[in-house]
Amino acid sequence: MMVTESALTQWLTERAQHIEHVLEQLLPPADLVPARLHQAMRYAVLGGGKRVRAALVYAAGYACVRPDIAQAAFNESLDRAAAAVELVHAYSLVHDDLPCMDDDMLRRGRPTLHVQYDEATALLAGDALQPLAFDLLAQMPLAPEAVVRATRTLAQAAGSLGMAGGQAIDLASVGKTLSQQELQQMHTLKTGALLAASVKLGGLVAGAQASQERSLDEYASAIGLAFQVVDDVLDVTTDTAVLGKTAGKDAAANKPTYVTLMGLEGAQSFAASLHRTARQALSPLGDTSNLLSGLADFIVLRDH
Ligand code: IPE
Ligand code: IPE
Ligand code: MG
Ligand code: MG
Ligand code: MG
Repeated sequence: MMVTESALTQWLTERAQHIEHVLEQLLPPADLVPARLHQAMRYAVLGGGKRVRAALVYAAGYACVRPDIAQAAFNESLDRAAAAVELVHAYSLVHDDLPCMDDDMLRRGRPTLHVQYDEATALLAGDALQPLAFDLLAQMPLAPEAVVRATRTLAQAAGSLGMAGGQAIDLASVGKTLSQQELQQMHTLKTGALLAASVKLGGLVAGAQASQERSLDEYASAIGLAFQVVDDVLDVTTDTAVLGKTAGKDAAANKPTYVTLMGLEGAQSFAASLHRTARQALSPLGDTSNLLSGLADFIVLRDH
């Protein structure tokens, strides 16, 4: 059975509202000292974003869950894992937008954090969001080994061999022509790693078996790369108003992207082939992977 596009949209909207509520509860209150920092953290995280990473945590969890699982602990752990990846993602965007990185003024249709507050606050908000993510994981009501594995999964995805490393390569690549292999490595690290960690965390919370984990990993590496290929395409094809961030930024900043490497059509067809790979990877999981399959469609066909 397939999940229809409208059913998926409805599910994504419901999950986005749910994770917004979870994040709202888990973030420090806006009036708690130091209030300006807490307000900035809430500004960075709440009230925007497609919440794809949170949705991947839930969808991977539902794909692998066994009927005899303890429901309350499962749901709370999924919430904490989904919130944790959204916090790391939000922090990565705050730092990505800083003048010393991409120097962007607009994010999620609003002024970027350093524009709304100031650069030091943006730096500190990122600094504070990251440990909060790990604090949430540490409190998952799961077996200690599962908590350790989850913590290491997110740590590795965010660190120098994951997102932060990919961002370093991105900055070092300005004005350069990268080979396809180099570009793939950069995109896989800066964006793919955190998306893949989201899928892994869902599987881990559900207690996925090794064979299920292999399918999830294969799916995750395809959609992780596809996500940034599509981000590169949208930067060229879509208006600032729809994107909620400045369009045409990559060319203006002289960044190597899949569009500069393959041309627009080449990048679009590469995304389509990653989409097929992702869907095929799910076939051993059967019907329980419908939401993951719908999310692969969403990632490749989205307009922002
Ligand atoms: C944008 O991510 C940054 C990339 C890694 C390409 P998203 O497109 O998921 O941003 P939000 O969370 O929906 O704003
Ligand atoms: C961002 O890549 C990757 C991150 C780790 C934040 P981009 O720099 O292309 O993301 P956008 O286009 O600003 O959202
Ligand atoms: Mg960037
Ligand atoms: Mg950027
Ligand atoms: Mg981009």
